[in-house]
Amino acid sequence: MQNRNTLFIGKVLLNYASLESTNASALELLSKSNPSEGTVISAYEQTIGRGQIGSSWESEAGKNLTLSLILYPKFIPVRHQFILNQAIALGVRDTVAAFVDSEVTVKWPNDIYIRGHKTAGILIQNQLLGSNLQACVVGIGLNVNQKIFSPALSNPTSLLLNVTSTLLDLGSVQEELFIQLEQRYLQLRGGQEAKIQGEYLQYMYRYGTLADYERADGTRFRGTIAGLTETGKLLVRHEHGTEAFEIKGIKFLA
Ligand code: BTN
Repeated sequence: MQNRNTLFIGKVLLNYASLESTNASALELLSKSNPSEGTVISAYEQTIGRGQIGSSWESEAGKNLTLSLILYPKFIPVRHQFILNQAIALGVRDTVAAFVDSEVTVKWPNDIYIRGHKTAGILIQNQLLGSNLQACVVGIGLNVNQKIFSPALSNPTSLLLNVTSTLLDLGSVQEELFIQLEQRYLQLRGGQEAKIQGEYLQYMYRYGTLADYERADGTRFRGTIAGLTETGKLLVRHEHGTEAFEIKGIKFLA
């Protein structure tokens, strides 16, 4: 079903029954042709879904959204590329918030949480040209109707597990997602970075709250998320000062 409520996101919608990874297919499409901005590749089932930092993404066939969106954010300098993560994370957050009454937050850098449980993951793969972004594949896995998850996943959830209805209509969730993503992307294109950065902090999981963390070297500490650096590193304040972390450098402890 093509989206009639957006200007460009989802206007070209390529649906597949089974793909290894919608991100891999979107990257392949980009390498072979010149897809229009907003093109979406969606799969009923992914056989080798990719997650962040080399992990995999599990999703029960037909139960959830697994899709990749092609964007050309050539107006974003490479050193500011985290702003795209923030805009996309907010768009997915807004979508989830439209369906559930509970608190919906963004766990840095771009996991979407409902009351501390992960309901969506985002994998953005960027292509650069000079000092700006050229093309981006924005992969989104949004758990919608899945009820049972692998015990290997630490804290998964889905929309269905947070609403009272029996099943959610995947088409409606997808349509809402395209609308919300487009709104955030247009804000970004319209120069509203400050609004995006402000709302990202407003909805950030554990922002300003004392909690426990672990560094990559295994040392544990108690600290408070204080913000982000210009390049999107996480700033955590603790008894010895404020420390900046890359994604692989810090683990959130329960
Ligand atoms: C994460 O690790 O949290 C990111 C998960 C991203 C999963 C989505 S599902 C659609 C797209 N295709 C992929 O192979 N991965 C992304």
